[in-house]
Amino acid sequence: MAQRIVSGMRPTGKLHLGHYLGVIDNWVQLQKEFECFFFVADWHALTTKYDKTDDLKQDVLNVTMDWLASGIDPEKSTIYVQSHVPEIAELHLYLSMITPQNWVERDPTLKDMAKILKSKEGTNSQIGYGLMGYPVLMTADILMFNADFVPVGIDQVAHVELTRDIARRFNNVYNTDFFNEPQPKLNACSLICGLDGNKMGKSFNNDIKISDSAEVTAKKVMSAITDRSRLRKDDLGHPDECEVAFKYWKIFGSEEEISTVRQECEKGLRGCAQCKRELGTKINERFAEIREKRAYYENHIDEVKDILQTGSQKARVEAGKILTQVRDLVKMY
Ligand code: TRP
Repeated sequence: MAQRIVSGMRPTGKLHLGHYLGVIDNWVQLQKEFECFFFVADWHALTTKYDKTDDLKQDVLNVTMDWLASGIDPEKSTIYVQSHVPEIAELHLYLSMITPQNWVERDPTLKDMAKILKSKEGTNSQIGYGLMGYPVLMTADILMFNADFVPVGIDQVAHVELTRDIARRFNNVYNTDFFNEPQPKLNACSLICGLDGNKMGKSFNNDIKISDSAEVTAKKVMSAITDRSRLRKDDLGHPDECEVAFKYWKIFGSEEEISTVRQECEKGLRGCAQCKRELGTKINERFAEIREKRAYYENHIDEVKDILQTGSQKARVEAGKILTQVRDLVKMY
């Protein structure tokens, strides 16, 4: 039987090229080899944004449409919404009983969040009980399907380590070898920077969305930072000091194109404006089909909802099997 993969993403709204290149494209490849479970982590969103839920429903759909457009295939993978698989909440409860408090307290991400929250005013400037238990919830997400691998970014590896610890503890406490100790699988990260050269992020206003139109994308690319020392278009360029545009070429161009761009830039034969115009076209070529698919789903939102419903049902069947055994092992009535 194929080995299992579980991974999830918070419903943060429309996804950008950083998500696409760092995570989604990776998942698309994994579908070929593994039995994959991909879910929208809407409970995780509540751990920090329980008081900002107006866009939650739409954001679940936005994330799902970006996945589907990018090639996550509901025929191959199980695509579901976390909160539509209530078995996860029950598993979380059992796991919370056996997890020592100091295991969650030492979680590095939680410590960072605590610092950020403390610096804010208002209702959610406190760490809630739910946020505290966030790494245990993530453990339940993963163990719910007895995953073998969990594709994550480097920032999430500590959570998967905790998942392994909790799996081992469950096995010890209930004298079983029921849970696998899942391994983190690092996303082959193509770290694309934002248009300003900093990390690409929604809140930094420096991103290109998967769903941006060709016109918007072209316009955004024109605003990308280049070689700051270059003032006139026939000044000799320094591709390696070009802060954004040449880095994008290295991601989106062919070997041949990259070397042409380098040579022309160094010889002063290629102005930055022309260079970015061509780059915009290049990026648009890469995303043309994805955008078309995304537009299709936007116009067929019922199909998207159906996919989530079917996926969630499928996930519940698998989750139900595991939960029955867990209840049995814990010796629940
Ligand atoms: N914590 C992850 C994030 O913030 C999302 C996530 C939740 C996840 N549950 C998961 C990832 C289980 C992998 C497996 O990005």
